[in-house]
Amino acid sequence: MKTIFSGIQPSGTITLGNYIGAMKQFVELQNDYNCYFCIVDQHAITVPQDPAELRKNIRSLAALYLAVGIDPDKATLFIQSEVPAHAQAGWIMQCVSYIGELERMTQFKDKSAGKEAVSASLLTYPPLMAADILLYNTDLVPVGEDQKQHMELTRDLAERFNKKYGEVFTIPEIRIPKVGARIMSLQEPTKKMSKSDPNKKAFITPLDEPKQIEKKIKSAVTDSDGIVKFDVENKPGISNLLSIYSILGNKSVSELEQMYDGKGYGAFKGDLAEVVVNVFKPIQEKYHNLMETSELDDILDRGAEKANQTANLTLKNMEAAMGLGRRK
Ligand code: AQP
Repeated sequence: MKTIFSGIQPSGTITLGNYIGAMKQFVELQNDYNCYFCIVDQHAITVPQDPAELRKNIRSLAALYLAVGIDPDKATLFIQSEVPAHAQAGWIMQCVSYIGELERMTQFKDKSAGKEAVSASLLTYPPLMAADILLYNTDLVPVGEDQKQHMELTRDLAERFNKKYGEVFTIPEIRIPKVGARIMSLQEPTKKMSKSDPNKKAFITPLDEPKQIEKKIKSAVTDSDGIVKFDVENKPGISNLLSIYSILGNKSVSELEQMYDGKGYGAFKGDLAEVVVNVFKPIQEKYHNLMETSELDDILDRGAEKANQTANLTLKNMEAAMGLGRRK
């Protein structure tokens, strides 16, 4: 079986964008691949986090992974900081990275723009991400479009390391979904939907109440011509809603355009809200049950144990290849 690795930051409750671009794919892939799904809490602290909130978000994200359908008997679910090899291998990958290439990353530019104090870790986020992936001899990384640049860098760093120190790493491929790879903000539809957006109306989470979901969709920014038509350039708002409807409602965009021909945005948004609520309802039920049990901690303990075994083997190979310590 080929190996998959993917991670999500516990930097807030996941959004509809994280669900469509990442988690939904994970559920489909777990039957055919040896999967490692990681809660990347060390990535989350590259920007300020409230400790109590972070702890809560980590557990909540674990419960969400399971509630959407990740089966712990098929996939390994674990927390990054519970596998010390990630930070150790992250340091090594920093040593093979150049400052110039890290400064060119658009996520670094976006997240550091206009900030007075930017942590060094925001710049060195990509080598840590490379370590996350490479530690598991990963063949495939399913992510949303926004992670493409980091993935290309991961491949470059792995190739650079192999060339210099010997064939230690498998070079991973990236897997981006054909539709839904970039779900946009409901308030600024030319900007990616993000869980850390200060405007809560810009994103929907799987834990939102049905009334909240309805309100957020009804107030989603569209345009004034009232025609339900997919046109990203000129109608980014309605195009984004059409993508969401198409993926979650299992209908093609052209089918939807026909269904809402002459009906205006009100009817379209009302039906879309119902579709989203129905997708998230069973997830919410499972989530709340899981949060009350100790099963969640047992699953994370088992996941950490398995991840530590694999990651430590690769770390030892990396260190030996570079001449670190005394072991050949
Ligand atoms: N809007 C999106 N559309 C499709 N996929 C998305 N992903 C993120 N946003 C969208 C995918 O979700 C996975 C987990 O992302 P992450 O939490 O590790 O970091 P991120 O990409 O920075 O996501 P956010 O929500 O924007 O987090 P914050 O606000 O904390 O930076 C990845 O596979 C990502 O591609």
